[in-house]
Amino acid sequence: MMEKVQVLLLSIIQLLYWSHTVASSSSGFFYQDIMNSSANRDIHLSGVRLRVQAQPCSVFTVRGANATLPCHFWHEPPLTSPRSVRVKWSWVPVSGGRELDVLVVSGRQRRSFGDFRDRVHLQRELPGDVSLVITDVGMNDGGRYRCQVIDGLEDESVAVELGLRGVVFPYQPHCGRYHLTFVEAQQACEDQDAVIATSDQLYAAWQEGLNCCNAGWLADGTVQYPITKPRHQCGGTGVAPGVRSYGARHRQRQRFDVFCFTSPLRGRVYFLQPPLSFSRAGQACAEDGAQIAKVGQLFAAWRFQDLDRCEAGWLADGSLRYPIAHPRPHCGPREPGVRSFGFPPAHHEHGVYCFGSR
Ligand SMILES: *[C@@H]1O[C@H](CO)[C@@H](O)[C@H](O)[C@H]1NC(C)=O
Ligand SMILES: *[C@@H]1O[C@H](CO)[C@@H](O)[C@H](O)[C@H]1NC(C)=O
Repeated sequence: MMEKVQVLLLSIIQLLYWSHTVASSSSGFFYQDIMNSSANRDIHLSGVRLRVQAQPCSVFTVRGANATLPCHFWHEPPLTSPRSVRVKWSWVPVSGGRELDVLVVSGRQRRSFGDFRDRVHLQRELPGDVSLVITDVGMNDGGRYRCQVIDGLEDESVAVELGLRGVVFPYQPHCGRYHLTFVEAQQACEDQDAVIATSDQLYAAWQEGLNCCNAGWLADGTVQYPITKPRHQCGGTGVAPGVRSYGARHRQRQRFDVFCFTSPLRGRVYFLQPPLSFSRAGQACAEDGAQIAKVGQLFAAWRFQDLDRCEAGWLADGSLRYPIAHPRPHCGPREPGVRSFGFPPAHHEHGVYCFGSR
């Protein structure tokens, strides 16, 4: 009997404790702020609604730019005196996973998190403007952002997509076809000034005409390849064009190529004349105040700056390629693209593509 009473007492105390914590702090906004202001409290109880809106709800940008993700809140009916709210921006990266904090602003206090530290602030151009400004957008900043406004006991949020404009390219390292584990695939893209592409990015690239017969890793650990022109060696001619998927593959034990994604960087890719061996090619770019271009930089210049040159040049990974924006006779296939001659011996002499950040 005594024990039962004790247990009951304990749970009552616990309940009291819970209701206390819930009442005094909803999402970190202190109830006193409302309670000791009778004016605010009356408004609150007479059915003022908090509204939050984002327009447009998706934003596209490029690497290195400043992006503004819209978010605006107001009260209905309007308040007679302004009230302080708490604003929280969070996001889910393109590659998925759990929601991460970006920025929390409460009164004069603000805190930014992780890679966003000191790179984000609220725009605050008009009352209620809590748009998020991200400076120097990075290749991994794309994803689904959430703007949450917390006003006392009310809490509203909207989602805004941030997409990066860029180009998807298939990548195969020096050692040949199907040599990369998942982690090696991620690294291979980074080495080419890119990141591993997502399924959505590959799908968009397929819609724009990407055709590739080699299966490659994607950010979610699946292996896929885009076919616009079905061929016998490429899954057969009887199948409709599309992005074919092998599904999720074993990340350590299985090996494929990779699809990389890169977004243009301010700078210029240009050609230096032959004859240059691979090591001389790197020196020639350095002497010019530049660097030998990476594969991702050549693709970005081809896609976004219309780089077009019918002469093969060395790139940083030891491959030999040339970019064709306007197809013509003697310059490869009839579609625009970056043509590759693979990885010739390093003493062969060719031109070089350099990247200068100016
Ligand atoms: C709420 O109470 C605190 C402390 O009692 C006081 O400093 C503050 O001015 C009050 N706020 C309003 C809006 O009355
Ligand atoms: C981004 O904004 C910062 C200031 O917030 C400014 O210094 C910089 O020049 C801007 N960058 C671009 C690309 O507009």
